[in-house]
Amino acid sequence: MLRKVFLLLAALDQTLGSGKLLRVPLHSRINPNKSELFLPRNITDGNERLRVALKSRQNVEYFGNISMGTPEQHFTVIFDTGSSNTWLPSTNCPKSNAACQRHRQYNSSSSSSHVQDGRNFTLWYGSGSVLGYLSRDTLHFAGVDVPDVVFGEVVFQQQTVFNAVSFDGLVGLSLGRLAWRNTTPFLKLLCTQGFIAECIFSVYLRRGPGKSPSGEILIGGIDKSLFEGQLHYVPIILSHSWMVEIEQTVAGSTKIGDEAGAILDTGTSLVLMPLKTYYKFLESVPVLLGNDNYISCKLKSLPIIYLHIGGKVFPLTPADYLVEMVRGHEKICILAVAPVKMDFWVLGDVFLWRYYTVYDATANRIGLAKAVR
Ligand SMILES: *[C@@H]1O[C@H](CO)[C@@H](O)[C@H](O)[C@H]1NC(C)=O
Ligand SMILES: *[C@@H]1O[C@H](CO)[C@@H](O)[C@H](O)[C@H]1NC(C)=O
Ligand SMILES: *[C@@H]1O[C@H](CO)[C@@H](O)[C@H](O)[C@H]1NC(C)=O
Ligand SMILES: *[C@@H]1O[C@H](CO)[C@@H](O)[C@H](O)[C@H]1NC(C)=O
Ligand SMILES: *[C@@H]1O[C@H](CO)[C@@H](O)[C@H](O)[C@H]1NC(C)=O
Repeated sequence: MLRKVFLLLAALDQTLGSGKLLRVPLHSRINPNKSELFLPRNITDGNERLRVALKSRQNVEYFGNISMGTPEQHFTVIFDTGSSNTWLPSTNCPKSNAACQRHRQYNSSSSSSHVQDGRNFTLWYGSGSVLGYLSRDTLHFAGVDVPDVVFGEVVFQQQTVFNAVSFDGLVGLSLGRLAWRNTTPFLKLLCTQGFIAECIFSVYLRRGPGKSPSGEILIGGIDKSLFEGQLHYVPIILSHSWMVEIEQTVAGSTKIGDEAGAILDTGTSLVLMPLKTYYKFLESVPVLLGNDNYISCKLKSLPIIYLHIGGKVFPLTPADYLVEMVRGHEKICILAVAPVKMDFWVLGDVFLWRYYTVYDATANRIGLAKAVR
């Protein structure tokens, strides 16, 4: 009898352990206000600094649902591989803060599982900051309830950045370098508390709106039906950040960039290149139609960008890095590649449309394969 119980427990344990997958469907929207979207964090110091570098470009946002507290309060969030913290607007933000008022807000007084933390925080942006204080509560998503998640209740949001975005807050899926002190990054929390057996997640983003869902984050596993061929694994080169090394970059047949780090970032729309590489890339782009990265949609005249990562070549074709728009009666294209004043790349949604990515926090590596369309 005892033995049977033991076996039964062991069997249960296995099902929970090895098979557990948390599936988060993502919806997308092109932001018609062409507002700025998230950009590269300044990772040179211990604080998380978000730099907003995009202006007046059409942005696609990918967001999913979570809820917080008891009873549950619902929010849409960006699951962001480029940062480690989680935050939501708070009901304690002042009426004068329109950006905050425009979004759903977390009310700690109406959650019985809320616990005060007592610390304040500030996250820096290029043009301002988001600030508030830390709280703890139960975060519900993908069918599980994760207790004691430390997150930021935001009482001030920079209007110019957050007014037009359609998500309320953000869940950071990075590894912790930028996390608030004494807090466990969300992914680690899911692993250590046994919500998933394998400390990995995978990202699939479909290009273009209108399809539903538009993508998926699979936490705890890999969905082999969403990519072609084998995953190509490369080590991360910066502890606690999803950064890999690009050995070199070639546009057409011209080398435009040397060795550089590259962050895989679901929270950024575009592909961002170090300035020097960007200027070399522009030399191979025939005509820009103005200073806002508009370009004619003649794909044939544009080069393929070849990123060499871990000894394998990952091409981005003009069809990948151009975004079509209609201006008046004219079809124009926007270069979805932009410069950034840093010495590393940010591979945002434009790259993730084409490549399925697996983030493995146990082996500290990232797997890449061509995504199915
Ligand atoms: C990053 O932050 C540090 C410290 O605040 C600052 O000195 C540095 O200039 C910033 N780097 C960039 C690229 O913004
Ligand atoms: C999020 O929840 C809303 C209802 O609150 C639902 O309409 C929507 O489909 C959900 N989106 C996702 C991506 O699950
Ligand atoms: C927050 O919840 C409390 C308790 O349910 C309620 O009295 C209060 O009005 C709520 N605040 C807001 C801004 O909704
Ligand atoms: C947090 O910020 C509030 C409002 O600015 C301030 O009153 C409080 O003293 C701060 N708390 C800490 C621990 O810094
Ligand atoms: C675009 O901006 C206008 C003015 O700020 C606002 O009224 C509208 O709701 C915004 N649209 C979206 C989809 O965010």
